[in-house]
This record gives sequence, C-alpha cells and structure tokens, in this order.
Amino acid sequence: MVRIGITTQYGRFMTTALITGATAGIGAAFARRLAKDGRNLVLVARDTGRLAASAAELSKTYGVEVETLAADLATDTGITAVEERLRDAGRPVDILINNAGFGNKGAFLTVPLEAELDMLKVHVEAVLRTTTAALPGMQERGRGGIINVASVAAFLPRGTYGATKAWVVSFTQGIARDVGGSGVRLLALCPGFTRTEFHQRAGMGTSNIPAWSWLSAERVVDEALRDLARGRSLSVPGKRYKAIVAVSRLLPSGKLGGVSSKAARTYRTD
Ligand SMILES: NC(=O)c1ccc[n+]([C@@H]2O[C@H](COP(=O)([O-])OP(=O)(O)OC[C@H]3O[C@@H](n4cnc5c(N)ncnc54)[C@H](OP(=O)(O)O)[C@@H]3O)[C@@H](O)[C@H]2O)c1
Repeated sequence: MVRIGITTQYGRFMTTALITGATAGIGAAFARRLAKDGRNLVLVARDTGRLAASAAELSKTYGVEVETLAADLATDTGITAVEERLRDAGRPVDILINNAGFGNKGAFLTVPLEAELDMLKVHVEAVLRTTTAALPGMQERGRGGIINVASVAAFLPRGTYGATKAWVVSFTQGIARDVGGSGVRLLALCPGFTRTEFHQRAGMGTSNIPAWSWLSAERVVDEALRDLARGRSLSVPGKRYKAIVAVSRLLPSGKLGGVSSKAARTYRTD
C-alpha cells in the first residue's frame, strides 16, 4: 500500500523516503523522524541484520511500511541496486537522503589509497548517481526533496574527507539552483561533531573534543528538515557551527588549512 495525499510541512503527497546509512547515527534519526511523520521508508545499509531489526522496530512503532535494501555503496553493484529502486516509477520515492558515509583516521599517505577511493565512491559517486536516478521522476511529479549529507569539514580544507564533502555542498547547491521552481528541493546538510558511531568506527578518539561542540543526531535532523521546508539549499545545524562556517568563508583557504590540520591533531587514538 502506498500512502498518498497526506499534507505535511514538506509538501503534499511526499510519502516515501529512501535513506542511505539508515541503521545508525544521523541516518537512523532521519528514519525515526520521517516514520513518525507518517512516511514509508526504504532503508539502505550493508548490515542485513541491523536493517531487518530497524525495519521491524520502525514499522511496529510508527505503523509505516518499511523496505530494506542491503547495498554497499562503495561498489558498483550496490549503487546500481539503489539507482534501480529510485527509478521504479511504480513505487515513487519522494525524499532521498544521501547520508551513508565514514571517516578514515590519519593524515594523507598514512591512509591506504583503496580506503580513499572507497570514500570517493560512497561520498561522491553514489551521491551523484542516486541524485541523477531520483531527480527525473521527482521533476515529472512536480515534487520531491533530496538531502545530501555533507559536513562542516566541507569548509575547512583538509584531506579527502573535507574534499568529498566540499563536492557534496557545491554539487547540491548548484543542482538546487538548476531545478528551482520545479517543486523539487535539494539541501546540503553540514553537521559539526555529532554523537553517532562515526568516530568509533573510524578508530578516532573523541575524549578531547569539547562538550559544547557535540550535536545530537535528532537536532541535526530537525534543523535539516526545517531548512528543507523553508526552501534553503544549505543547512548548518547549531549557532556555533553557523558562525564557524560564516568565518571560514571570510578567511583565505590557506589559513583555513592550518586551522583544520590543528583541529585534526586533536583526534586521539583512545
Ligand atoms: N558524526 C559526525 O560527527 C558527522 C559530522 C559531519 C558529517 N557527518 C556525516 O554524516 C553522515 C552519517 O554519519 P554518522 O555520523 O551517522 O555515521 P554512523 O553512525 O557511523 O552511521 C553510518 C551509516 O552508514 C552506513 N554505511 C557506512 N558505509 C556504507 C557503505 N559503504 N554502504 C552503505 N552504507 C554504509 C552504516 O551502515 P552499515 O555499516 O551497515 O553499512 C550506517 O548505517 C556521513 O555522511 C558523515 O560523513 C557525520
């Protein structure tokens, strides 16, 4: 059953959301929030056990339909599977959240090239291909929303992670302008430090990151959805991070590299 015709702050008839990286952290918070709002979900991640557990919990708690799609977005097969689901006109996806992502611990050259290439595939190629797959159907229907999760790191040049996220911001804001007036909205979401599994998975210690700098995944999601509803193309949750991004845009990028390298050295191995 496809639920149609509910009116929400994001617009009428936007009923199914596909979320990559939906089993943990920010993606799981998007899934809970959108299910609570009455949307059916397509959850994408690699771990089939966690996908099944998340789907069961969300459909039981919120009474929505939840599909799972096991896909590794660092592979062609995984990206193709998500593209095919997004192109399925019989089961339209109205909201696409490109959220899957990860960090690699260590300075450039200490990270294996293969891991850097995986990051490009997940953060850049998957986002490009899924956006390309989702957009024509949304334009045809005259409605839809795409949130591409970047990072505050997009504004602080340092290594592959920041570079991929800078691409996400530039790509998303450019396409948002191109499709303006079509009923389809795109938003680049740039969180700062957010309490999720991200740092632990990357083996990054967090004990010397100041308490004030942490955001909750729920807050990040609330601000992103509010900014999407307002028609913005960039969302930076939290006043302090908004200020950091505003200042970063005024400083020469050479200086910013120094600041972000210093920040990166604060990561511990604990
Ligand atoms: N946490 C932060 O401080 C922070 C700050 C700024 C931006 N971000 C960005 O926010 C996004 C979400 O991060 P998070 O902090 O919520 O991370 P997280 O808690 O580690 O969750 C990552 C999610 O992505 C999935 N995933 C990872 N690699 C994947 C792959 N190759 N293919 C498919 N799914 C994959 C994981 O599930 P499986 O392992 O089962 O695949 C999991 O569901 C990322 O894009 C990250 O760069 C995070």
